[in-house]
Amino acid sequence: MKRLKQHVIWGQRGSFILAATGSAVGLGNIWKFPYITGENGGGAFVLMYLLCILLIGIPIMMAEILMGRRARANPIIATAELCEAAGASKLWTGIGWMGALAGLVILSFYTVIAGWTLEYIVAAVSGEFTGLTGEASKQLFDGLLADPGKMLQWHTLFTLMTVVILALGVTRGLESSVRVMMPLLFVLLLVLLGYAAVEGEFATSLRFMFSFNPQDISWESALVAMGHSFFTLSLGMGAIMAYGAYMPSNQSVSRTVLYVALLDTLVALVAGVAIFALVFATPGISPGSGPGLMFVTLPVAFGNMSAGLVFGAIFFVMVMLAAWTSTISLLEPGVAYLNERFGFNRVAASILLGVVAWAMGLGSVWSFNDWSAKQFLWGKSYFDTMDFIATNIMLPLGGVLIALFVGWKLRDHHILHELASESPRLVRWWRPVLKFISPVAVLVVLINGIFPVLRAVFVE
Ligand code: PHE
Repeated sequence: MKRLKQHVIWGQRGSFILAATGSAVGLGNIWKFPYITGENGGGAFVLMYLLCILLIGIPIMMAEILMGRRARANPIIATAELCEAAGASKLWTGIGWMGALAGLVILSFYTVIAGWTLEYIVAAVSGEFTGLTGEASKQLFDGLLADPGKMLQWHTLFTLMTVVILALGVTRGLESSVRVMMPLLFVLLLVLLGYAAVEGEFATSLRFMFSFNPQDISWESALVAMGHSFFTLSLGMGAIMAYGAYMPSNQSVSRTVLYVALLDTLVALVAGVAIFALVFATPGISPGSGPGLMFVTLPVAFGNMSAGLVFGAIFFVMVMLAAWTSTISLLEPGVAYLNERFGFNRVAASILLGVVAWAMGLGSVWSFNDWSAKQFLWGKSYFDTMDFIATNIMLPLGGVLIALFVGWKLRDHHILHELASESPRLVRWWRPVLKFISPVAVLVVLINGIFPVLRAVFVE
């Protein structure tokens, strides 16, 4: 595939780790992980999730970085060039195309949820949490969902924030922003952890997160854990591949991946411990309250604690930063493609794709109000349909294809060249895991993700 532009490489130490961690740490860690842990019984779920990170997440993330860095191009051109070099069928280029598309689909609904954090920053700062009861909190949240105009405004603003960073370019936009936002995010998280330790039921929370009850292990929660390990590490759609293209050649892939996976997991665990500590300290609310945990339960906790107003605002600013560094990685593969393949400047490419994602997101805004009765795929709302297609189909499928492509198709010398400075023992372990264990495990998730839906359509 022809390219008009060559790639930049990030100059400063640690930029890749910060950017990849920025992509990985997002709503998945702070919004989703705590509530699915709450719904799936705590410790046993955490253990299954950690196993998935180790057996699926880490090997596939290494493969993605390797592809991006080897080709030094956006995921679409990267897969095309690597196919050619490996003498593999052109069909494998689908990895890049599907990834860029998945990025647009995820971005379209991700900015809707991320937009809620903007609304909640305003609510916290203007004192709306003070003395909040469970009932009033639910009304506040339902009121937001019922107001398409307000949701549209936040969705638009978040998309715009994403476009601005991308338009500023790979160094001035992406690199500079993660170098500021990620350290800030870590500081805010530590502040919240301290607050939760002082104000919350820390011991109860730790017991809940880490006590292990074998009867909590079920096939279903294993699947949730597996699917989540994918989403949370931003795997299967090329975000990490796109960033890998900017990673200096002398940096160790395996060590970097370990850092990113560790930081991502740590943020999820710390956020979980802090959130549950606050939730357990507030009478009458429960840890298993689902997606509303962050937007309904937590404001009640903040509203009834000392200095809850300040810390509530800090909390939602932190979530906003986490989401922001993720949204930029969702659009980067497409923007880099338009830039490198057709010579679009980054401003035009970011605006164009931003508008596409924004328009696709309108349905997600309306699916909570005007379109709440409309059903799309198999009885699901528009929002759930987009989430299902991207998270349960496109990401795992992309992940399997990446594992199979790097495991079976890429020539040894391509891989060994990129991994020249890694420990040979690690490389010896990594390849078979990538060839066999990861794809089989992911296929299990994929089939189980689709199967219940197919059965509902054809059998019932
Ligand atoms: N990893 C992000 C999160 O946990 C979501 C994401 C998925 C970002 C795929 C980029 C690509 O919120």
